[in-house]
Amino acid sequence: MKIIMLGAPGAGKGTQAEMICEKYSLPHISTGDIFRANIKNGTELGMEAKKYMDQGLLVPDELTVKILLDRVAKDDCKNGYVLDGFPRTIPQAEVLDEALTKLGDKVDFAINVDVPDENIINRMSGRRACVTCGATYHVEYAPTKVEGVCDKCGAQLILRDDDKPETVKNRLDVYHKQTQPLIDFYSNKGILKEVDGTVNMQDVFAAIVTILG
Ligand code: AP5
Ligand code: MG
Ligand code: ZN
Repeated sequence: MKIIMLGAPGAGKGTQAEMICEKYSLPHISTGDIFRANIKNGTELGMEAKKYMDQGLLVPDELTVKILLDRVAKDDCKNGYVLDGFPRTIPQAEVLDEALTKLGDKVDFAINVDVPDENIINRMSGRRACVTCGATYHVEYAPTKVEGVCDKCGAQLILRDDDKPETVKNRLDVYHKQTQPLIDFYSNKGILKEVDGTVNMQDVFAAIVTILG
């Protein structure tokens, strides 16, 4: 099963992707997590990506597409995967489509986690992220057992550099201009599924499980 998570920054793509991957035993592929791991390790890719991410802008398609195609070619992706944060532009979606078509394959579901902009800033300011394993928490809605420490792997949690309110506003603008058109793109392909992302995480997940079967 190949699933794409769509939705604004902070809509809960990562949170839901993690739950889907656990239930259906699929790898969770987040381009944002890949970039953040590279930034943490000081790689050339990380340094390049950081220039864009810190401003809330998209990393250029050429760079992002290559990383994603390399990742989905790995062995653990044979039975499918959940893409979280990719594609984010029409050209990225077209490249993915072409690559899958060549393999006689396709995306099964594009799930749009719908949350209005008003709810987003509050979610971002309370978010805590684990760069080591990709887990996501919230000080109020999804707290860890020990403050600041990842429940899953024990690493120190971070506040993302791009979660400052000014940067979140830019990310929302970029989302509406460059990423929202993907909703029509996948709707036209007949694989778009909408879920209400404003309810609690378990209820969002229940709606997704109903869709996936
Ligand atoms: P990325 O890491 O993908 O960030 P994003 O899309 O902005 O989304 P977020 O990770 O911020 O939010 P999310 O939807 O995963 O929400 P989460 O589950 O954490 O990308 C970062 C940057 O990398 C981009 O800006 C860009 O520069 C670059 N990049 C990445 N991919 C790219 C691409 N393909 N092309 C170009 N550039 C790319 O939830 C948010 C918070 O809310 C958490 O604290 C969570 O606990 C909480 N929460 C979740 N669900 C609920 C709920 N139902 N109720 C209450 N709280 C909730
Ligand atoms: Mg995320
Ligand atoms: Zn962790």
